[in-house]
Amino acid sequence: MAISAKAQSERRGMLVSVEKNRYIEIDHDKVRNGAFFTRGDNWLTSHVSKFITESGLTNFVDPFAGEGHIFQSLRRREIHFQEFGYDINSVFGFTVNDSLVNVPRIERGIVITNPPYLAKHSASRKGVRDEVNKHYVSTGRDDLYQVALDKCLETYSHVVAIIPETVINSGYPLDRLVSLTVVESADFTDTDCPICVCCFGPDSAGRSKALVYRGEEALGTLGEIESHRVVPTNSYKLTFNDPNGQLALQAVDTSDPNRPIGFLHRQASAYNVSGIKHSSRLVTFISSPCFTSDDQIKQIAHTANVLLEELRTDTYDLIFSPFKGNRKDGTRRRRLDYRTARAILERAIRQQDTETTPHGTLWDCDR
Ligand SMILES: C[S@@+](CC[C@H](N)C(=O)[O-])C[C@H]1O[C@@H](n2cnc3c(N)ncnc32)[C@H](O)[C@@H]1O
Repeated sequence: MAISAKAQSERRGMLVSVEKNRYIEIDHDKVRNGAFFTRGDNWLTSHVSKFITESGLTNFVDPFAGEGHIFQSLRRREIHFQEFGYDINSVFGFTVNDSLVNVPRIERGIVITNPPYLAKHSASRKGVRDEVNKHYVSTGRDDLYQVALDKCLETYSHVVAIIPETVINSGYPLDRLVSLTVVESADFTDTDCPICVCCFGPDSAGRSKALVYRGEEALGTLGEIESHRVVPTNSYKLTFNDPNGQLALQAVDTSDPNRPIGFLHRQASAYNVSGIKHSSRLVTFISSPCFTSDDQIKQIAHTANVLLEELRTDTYDLIFSPFKGNRKDGTRRRRLDYRTARAILERAIRQQDTETTPHGTLWDCDR
């Protein structure tokens, strides 16, 4: 008889490694309610404070107030206004309210919150999908923080929300975004979810105009950063996840800053090829009829790494999804998606192609 994800996770915890048969225990209430608290003040940078005070709104509303840490941060920074907190859980002493269904309206209010985060696929994996499924179904969203944001933005002109940094690549509409601040220093003690602070205003100026910061450092507009994104043209045949591929891609940063994401010749790969699952998203092997010799593959890998480094610098890494925690130097680990990897490789091959045969191309036949 099939066992549900919930029954399975209650019995043994959640499977985190098939190879090692490793399970971790799941606190179902905590996961279902996204009850991870904002214990630090790093999220409250000077421009976020300025956005709050310059809004001229004098009532702070936290529809997901928990232990009231957001209010405490504001008080510590001497930003004192009237506080209105709500939570689904009565133990915290705030007014009980289901803010994923309706956020109460307070005159002259500004929402400042850290809502629950729970992706639909995580809810299934962690065995709590049944309890929260109605929110995904009724809204069509696939993460609870997006449901929460919808409710806050529907009711308030100004919203400050601490949410996963993955919002940048999520497709969530960011038309009212005024600023996005990546916070690399941890404000949480019980999760290492990479977060950012999004300030939303009343005008739909479009995501491209939003200002982007890393901590206190201004990086430019989201539009400027995103203009560097590269897309594949499918001009060369490249097969990812080919166990016999001669080019290896380590698609995530390790915690060692000297071993970042990179392309390398299979022989130079430090990984045990036979130990890598075909479906692994961390290291993949790539084959192509364009790969003609060991030296040429090494050259393509080198050029691709230079292009990747330029892209990382130009975009401050923000077009790459964050990956589980920080590197030892405190910067966020990143993951390279295959679409961007393909686009980079195509450019590297084209560059090589032009350098070796300036009047034509060696690899026409392979397209
Ligand atoms: C990520 S915690 C944040 C708490 C607090 N804002 C902070 O930053 O420390 C999310 C909070 O939302 C509450 N919550 C979860 N679902 C809720 C709902 N449907 N309505 C209201 N509160 C909810 C949880 O109980 C939890 O306290």
